[in-house]
Amino acid sequence: MEQMKIFLLGGTGKTGYEVLKQLVDRKYSITALVRNPLGFNLDGIEEAKRQQVTIVKGSALDKDTLEDKMGKCDLVISILGTGTKNEYTEIYSEGGRNILEAMRIKGVKKLITITSGLIDMSDPSTDNFFLNRIIRPNFNKIYYDQTRWETILDDTKDIEWMCVRPTYLTNGDPTGDYRVKERHCPIGGRKIRRSDLADFIIKQISPEPFIYKKPVLAY
Ligand SMILES: NC(=O)c1ccc[n+]([C@@H]2O[C@H](COP(=O)([O-])OP(=O)(O)OC[C@H]3O[C@@H](n4cnc5c(N)ncnc54)[C@H](OP(=O)(O)O)[C@@H]3O)[C@@H](O)[C@H]2O)c1
Repeated sequence: MEQMKIFLLGGTGKTGYEVLKQLVDRKYSITALVRNPLGFNLDGIEEAKRQQVTIVKGSALDKDTLEDKMGKCDLVISILGTGTKNEYTEIYSEGGRNILEAMRIKGVKKLITITSGLIDMSDPSTDNFFLNRIIRPNFNKIYYDQTRWETILDDTKDIEWMCVRPTYLTNGDPTGDYRVKERHCPIGGRKIRRSDLADFIIKQISPEPFIYKKPVLAY
């Protein structure tokens, strides 16, 4: 059977690179859209496996380039972000709209994307002093645009999307041992390694139990 082709956005990022590495290990063929191909090296990937990755240059905010570069693929994975800079951004909402539009033009039907566990104000597990007074105000501009992106997704029915909402991201090897709960954080959960987040994302490729859902990940 021919291996699935994946279009990846955010592959140069800390989580995106984990996703890229694990996709390659699982023998997927990936086209990664990056803003700066010259500054992107695949040193973390075995040389023999690097041919599974095609790097194309472009920004998610440039609709025409995105449409042009997306090409034929079975699935789009978007791990876009802004680092920890709490500045006004449209990378989720405008980037997301551009991704959806490019997918429609190219006939791609499946999308896995990312926001944050903390944007859901109805979640009793994250309703505490520290998160409400310190973390949420410190990242409010990021959460604002992530919320706009989720609102766009809520109105999207022609593409099968899944939106992962991680808790606080840390580094380290995957444990494979994490909890997943729809919309709300698993009780007492605080953080998740980027490698386990990548593991979860890739496990959703097939079968896809979280279509039109927003699973939260934590230990
Ligand atoms: N940090 C946390 O604790 C936490 C918690 C919950 C959720 N999250 C969310 O999880 C996601 C992953 O976080 P992370 O820290 O692993 O990500 P990150 O390292 O900040 O990576 C962000 C990626 O987005 C890319 N990007 C930004 N603007 C772009 C554009 N216009 N066109 C194309 N690519 C663009 C960056 O590319 P360049 O290399 O070109 O900059 C980079 O590859 C983020 O959305 C973050 O908000 C984070």
